[in-house]
Amino acid sequence: MMNIPGTILFDRHDIDRRVRELAVEINRDYEGKDAVLVSILKGSFMFLADLSRKLDFSHVIDFARLASYGSGSTSTGSVEIRKDIEIPVQGRDVLIVEDIVDTGITIAFFAERIRRRSPRSLKSCTLIDKKERRQLEFVPDYVGFAVDEGFIVGYGLDYDEQYRCLPDIYVLDERRLAGGGL
Ligand code: PRP
Repeated sequence: MMNIPGTILFDRHDIDRRVRELAVEINRDYEGKDAVLVSILKGSFMFLADLSRKLDFSHVIDFARLASYGSGSTSTGSVEIRKDIEIPVQGRDVLIVEDIVDTGITIAFFAERIRRRSPRSLKSCTLIDKKERRQLEFVPDYVGFAVDEGFIVGYGLDYDEQYRCLPDIYVLDERRLAGGGL
């Protein structure tokens, strides 16, 4: 059994319920469309897998891998594309799927990049919208959970690549983080 240095914030049942609710909303808005879901690796893989299976309109899936520097410590985070999407999005309905919007730097950068390719529509969905460290104004269209603060892991989200596999979402105990107890 893995030793998890935190407490459950949203358990698997909370997550399942909320993903279902989001899917109802998205299904209503995208009825009859043929969409492109674009997910930013790695954190969003589990949310994307669960959400996609609950969507009843036609959609294809693509991935990007971005690396952001400076987030949290400066107001000028820069983002590097490590892997771009492969499906052309011009004239298509694009939905960005993220696990978390934190400073907002990653999704703001990526949304602008997609927008320049002239999609017919562009919306974003994040499982967690965390406001504490927001640096760039970005308002996701669909939000699973709004969270004020805390370091969150599980259900795809990591701490130094650990804990992505957990089926529940935890908030890490900051005292143990500070004490190097992880
Ligand atoms: C996380 C998360 C988002 C981004 C949000 O990714 O998956 O993509 O950070 O942070 P921001 O709003 O401050 O830009 P990370 O770079 O940690 O990579 P990972 O998904 O591989 O864990």
